[in-house]
Amino acid sequence: MQNDEMVFIKPRQELINISKMYESLRYNDYSTENGLGEIVDNSVEAGARHINVFFEKKKVKNGKRETEAVGSIVVVDDGCGMNEDVIKKCLVLGCSMRVKRNGRMGIGRFGVGMTLGSISLARRVEVFSRDDEKKDFLYTFIDLDMISNGQITQMPEPEYRALPEKYAEYMFGNTGTVVILTNCDRLDGTGKRQDANEVNASIANYLGRTYRKFIESGLQIYLDGRRVCLHDPLYIAGPTQFDTKEKQDPKAVLYSQTTLDWDIPGMSGEKAPITIRLSLLPKEWRLNIGDGGKAEAKKRKIDQNEGVSILRANREVLYDKVPYLIGTKGQYSYEENDRFWGCEILFPPELDECFQVRYIKRGAEPIGPLKDRLREELTSAVKSLRKTIKGDRAQQKAENNQKASAFDNAENLMGDVDALLPANKAGKSMSKEEEDQKINEILDQTLDDAEDKKEEKKEQLLNKPYSVVPVKYPQSILFEPEFLLGNKVIIKLNVNHPFYKNIINPLCGDITKEDTTTVTNEKSKIKDAIMLLLLSYAKAFASFSDENSTMLENLLTSWGSILATVVNKMES
Ligand SMILES: Nc1ncnc2c1ncn2[C@@H]1O[C@H](COP(=O)(O)OP(=O)(O)O)[C@@H](O)[C@H]1O
Ligand SMILES: [Mg+2]
Repeated sequence: MQNDEMVFIKPRQELINISKMYESLRYNDYSTENGLGEIVDNSVEAGARHINVFFEKKKVKNGKRETEAVGSIVVVDDGCGMNEDVIKKCLVLGCSMRVKRNGRMGIGRFGVGMTLGSISLARRVEVFSRDDEKKDFLYTFIDLDMISNGQITQMPEPEYRALPEKYAEYMFGNTGTVVILTNCDRLDGTGKRQDANEVNASIANYLGRTYRKFIESGLQIYLDGRRVCLHDPLYIAGPTQFDTKEKQDPKAVLYSQTTLDWDIPGMSGEKAPITIRLSLLPKEWRLNIGDGGKAEAKKRKIDQNEGVSILRANREVLYDKVPYLIGTKGQYSYEENDRFWGCEILFPPELDECFQVRYIKRGAEPIGPLKDRLREELTSAVKSLRKTIKGDRAQQKAENNQKASAFDNAENLMGDVDALLPANKAGKSMSKEEEDQKINEILDQTLDDAEDKKEEKKEQLLNKPYSVVPVKYPQSILFEPEFLLGNKVIIKLNVNHPFYKNIINPLCGDITKEDTTTVTNEKSKIKDAIMLLLLSYAKAFASFSDENSTMLENLLTSWGSILATVVNKMES
């Protein structure tokens, strides 16, 4: 019926004014990453095992300065390639030659990605492709200048052409495609030139996260010759750039995985799965307040790890704080701790409509009922994740407090007045290496010999102006001071000395035991008083230069033995 009607419609006017249309189509929503993503999507879907992306730089004048900007972008893949019929149409707007694989839809769909993605970044797009190793590459292109001035109004007929040599070496398979974007004048979507190195870092980031599922299952992506490692915002998948043969980075645990069977719009009775995965980041990354901002955490992007990652056909389409997904309706309720859990939502293209995916595969916003269902699912899970994170922190804090050396109070008091005291003369001439060695020696003598705590202790000794470290020596010395760089004073307190055993210990409780919770105020005041006596004495020692050290050591030994003798007498 309809066809019959069409016979009567006489063509009057082209539907599109091509020369103007292409120019205005450039002003779409693509960022550099998303524009490139369209081309990489096609390579992934063509089954490529190697994708090489190049951002070729060129020098540009920026006022008087000369900087580097991206001149062209090239994507080389070893996928299935295109036959003549496909390459003819691949740059035609709205032409998708895709057939469902195993009855499933893939990443591509709308038939506009390659063209729109490309022209949003560049004025000229060239394609080389072959689907048969026995044939040469077919070449086609579009050029906005030529379209603007009316030189071309239709796709040029593809022609056989040899692949430029510099890309041929990256063509690992017998079939594949090379897309070359030249005259890249709109890389950040504004027409402003961007620093080539900045672009590079954010592209690597984008590729590693967006295609993480494919990289995980063997796809190799290279950016300017460097392998792109996957980045999983759930911190479960690997290898990441931090996993080496020798050492694997800590991994998150899968906290929960739920699958919802959702109605496919317009297909009565048919359903497709939506999978929600939540992870809890490794404990060691999130135990102390401020952990998320540490250098190691920043390297792993934990400081930015807030939000939800939505994947369509295993390719990420959104990574953001999604306001409607957590908490009460309409409220934006993310918390600082939310960086310590990860969430991904996976859906197949059949459910595009439910996620409001646009032709630009960027962004996703679940529609009403789905939104509510997801919120329901996430809110309770996130609540309990937050509880776990907070709980772990509180426990760690309690442990830290218990561990807080029994001498903390006296050490801190001394530290508070340190600015008023004269600088040390002793220990000034040592080098950083000598200091390091000294600290190792001190730690070797301490009672607490747990190896894993050594680094932590070392850090403490390096950062505190005053420290007391219990050691076991012969009876005659009560303590020995050490003077380190930056005016630091350390006391090695001998727990074998009778003054310690018979006086300090009974008066103050056993301070070498980590559990100090049972110590009363009275006891801790006595302990602080004795420690202040010793610390101030040690600080006074420091005002003598190193030449006097033998004399001072002798003084300490004789003092120690006299004290030992008299304390033993007292007890007998
Ligand atoms: N790297 C590639 N390898 C094989 N075929 C490709 C490649 N890039 C594009 N094509 C073909 O060009 C067509 C148009 O691509 P595109 O505009 O991105 O639309 P879509 O991906 O939505 O189908 C695709 O359907 C595909 O057949
Ligand atoms: Mg595509």
